[in-house]
Formats: sequence, C-alpha cells, structure tokens
Amino acid sequence: MKSDTRVKRVLLIIGGGIAAYKCLDLIRRLGERRIGVRAVLTKAAEEFVTALSVGALTNDRVFTGLFDLDDEREIGHIRLSREADLVVVAPATADLLARMAGGHANDLATAVLLATDKPVLAAPAMNPRMWLHPATQRNVRRLAEDGIHFIGPNTGEMAEGGEWGPGRLAEVPELVVRIEELLAAPSPPSRRLASGKTWGGESHGPLAGRHVLVTSGPTHEPIDPVRYMTNRSSGKQGHAIAAAAAKLGARVSLVSGPVTIADPEGAAVRRVETAAEMLDAVRSALPADIAIFAAAVADWRAARPAKEKIKKRSKDAPSLALAENKDILRTVARQGADRPALVIGFAAETGAVIERAKEKRRDKGADWIVANDVSRGTGVMGGDRNRVHLVTAEGVESWPEMAKEEVAERLLMRAAEHLAKTLVDG
Ligand code: CTP
Repeated sequence: MKSDTRVKRVLLIIGGGIAAYKCLDLIRRLGERRIGVRAVLTKAAEEFVTALSVGALTNDRVFTGLFDLDDEREIGHIRLSREADLVVVAPATADLLARMAGGHANDLATAVLLATDKPVLAAPAMNPRMWLHPATQRNVRRLAEDGIHFIGPNTGEMAEGGEWGPGRLAEVPELVVRIEELLAAPSPPSRRLASGKTWGGESHGPLAGRHVLVTSGPTHEPIDPVRYMTNRSSGKQGHAIAAAAAKLGARVSLVSGPVTIADPEGAAVRRVETAAEMLDAVRSALPADIAIFAAAVADWRAARPAKEKIKKRSKDAPSLALAENKDILRTVARQGADRPALVIGFAAETGAVIERAKEKRRDKGADWIVANDVSRGTGVMGGDRNRVHLVTAEGVESWPEMAKEEVAERLLMRAAEHLAKTLVDG
C-alpha cells in the first residue's frame, strides 16, 4: 500500500481566551511533525495574541476578518475551510461554542466552521462555571451530536483568581496526539450513539476517566436443578446504559443476569445467575464513580432449593418457602466506604409510579431513581422503547417516550454533568 506522504494541513481557529498563547507552542510542535498550519484569529483572539506572532510561526498569512476575503484574488472562506485536512478550534471559548452550536456565520471563524466539509476538533477552555453552565453543556452536547470532536477541558487551577475546576485547555502534547490521530484517520471510526449521533473519541468523552458500574437483566433463582423463578426483564435498558457509558468515554463494568441479547461494546461483562451472585460481583467491581442498578433482581429466592429434581410423587402440589434476597442497590447506596459518588436505581411500577419512586429513592438511599411503568400493555418489559421519570432530590423530570438507547445516553450525559458540577462545588 502506498503511504500518504503529502504534508497534512490544519486550519487552526484561535479563539479569544487567556489560553490562546498556548497556540503558539502548538503551531511550533505541529511544524516539527511536518503538519502545516494556517491560522484564523477571532476578533477576541487578537486581544491575546497578535497576527504577527502567529504568522511568524505558520509562515503564512493569518486570516482575521470575513470581509478581507471579498476580493476574488483573495482566498475565500469556502476554500480556506476545504484546503485543510482538519479544522482545530483552540481555545474554544463559551461564546465561540455557542455560535458554532447555533450555526452562526457572522465572522470568519464561524463562517469557515459552517462551510467546512472536514473533521473539526474543538478544545474548550474557559472558567469552570462557564463550562458547567447548562447553556454551555447544551451547546457542547449539540455539537457532539453534530459530529464535532472534543478534547478536554482538563481539570485544574485556572489562570484567573486561583479558581479550580474543569476549564483548562488540553495540554499541547495532548492536542498534538489527538490532531495526529484525526489526521491519520480522515474518517475516524464512528462513535455513533443510538440516536445516530457521534462523540469524537472515547478517551475524551464527558465520562473519560470515570468508572461506571451497571447491573442489568433478570436473575434466576433456582427451585431445583431444572426449575427457577425469574421475571420478564430483557436486559435491553441496562445493556444500553453500559454501551452509552462506554461511548461517552467511561470504563464500564457490567454485571448481567441471564439475557439473550449481545454484550454491549466496550464494557467488561460479568455474567451471574442469582441475586446473591450479582451482589458479590457488584462488590468486587467497586469502587466506581457511578453505579446504575437497572437489573430486575428477584426479590425472593427459594429458601431451600432442592438438590434433586422435585418429583410429582404426591397428588398435592409442593409448597415453596421463600427467603428475601438482599437489596443490592440499598447495600451499595447505604455503605460508607466505597459508596459511588452517584447511585442510580430503577423503579419498575405498575401504578402511582412517581410517588412510589420517590419513596424508593428515600428508602434505598439512592441519589436518583429512574421510574417507569411496567404494567402489561406498556410494552416496556422486553420492548425497545421506554418512557421514564427521573426522580432526584431536586424534583421530577418526565421524559418523553424514546428508544431505550436514547434514555441511556440522556441519563449518562446528565450523570457526567452532575459529577463535573460536584467536582467544582466540592
Ligand atoms: N434492586 C436491587 N436488589 C434487589 C432488588 C432490587 O438492587 N434485591 C434494585 C433494582 O435494580 C432497581 C431498584 O432496586 O434499581 C428497584 O427495584 P424494584 O423491583 O422496582 O423495587 P423493589 O425493591 O423490588 O420493590 P417492589 O418490588 O416492592 O416495588
């Protein structure tokens, strides 16, 4: 196979933030790797770096205003956006992300971003509160759904006022690695989520560095060597949660009861049969940052499962003594050491769904409960769609009916935001 020896080109859009100066080092490092850089400065960026210093490093003209480009002899914004192999936005400020998410084209940077047919990598950098603001998180989510790749922000001390939290521009060596990765794979492997959306790169997703533990499926409680008690759970919702967590960058441990569906991609799966085995497997998978108990664990087991197959000897049906299974969710949520920062349970109800879910949240010590109606006829158990209510300490959110994969993604994005926020608020 012939290797591609053509010099790769990056169009670097420099946004207006304190971290803009790091772009000078980035251009230098990319040059060392024979990656050509052409730069666009936003108006705000010119307050932090000069076109002169950037141009000295790129060895090229630096582009600033949209209307400099009107002249036919000049290079138009369409050409500018298409001649590169990759567009990199660094630092991607809250304002720039908002304008990108809104599809604005009122300056050269946003016009280029709207016109490009090349992959785009955004490296956000801003104050932690701005990063965690629901508006910014919404914009990032939307951009990720549009296929924009993200790197960072990193968590640490901010340049201004000794503040600490997520908002630092990814370090230059990290940026270089990610840029090289994207240049090496012009059509990077799709991180396609259920809804057909993509997240650009698992190691940089919003759950990167997190360990997510998920239980899924039913349990089988043996009565004798051939008979068991179980329920209608298919494992589809729990498995979708494990898959979504992996796609968002988490390390995922899935403890699954007996199911007939495929293992989710990217999760380490531990298969169990009984509730007791599930509890053991959960305990050995801890510690975790997030634990999501989606399994429909049997509440009871046969108190004394028969060693031999029970025979139909007498006319009377045998009676079955039951013993209660230990509640896995309650055990993990109520434990002191190793309690995950976010414990999420499910409530499968057949009436007064929200009220019972609120009680379950308090009673079991979960942070959130995802409640759904599993009455026969709703098609939830075993089906592909779900209509859930998210019950938290703050209140109840009722989500519209959607595919179980979408419920999973939405839940995990909420969890990622929650953890990032806890980090800042302490
Ligand atoms: N759960 C658990 N271990 C058990 C029973 C339930 O971890 N032994 C978890 C489930 O995974 C789910 C939540 O508890 O996240 C609620 O399960 P649900 O069946 O709705 O509630 P129960 O506690 O069984 O109460 P009830 O059947 O009375 O509604």
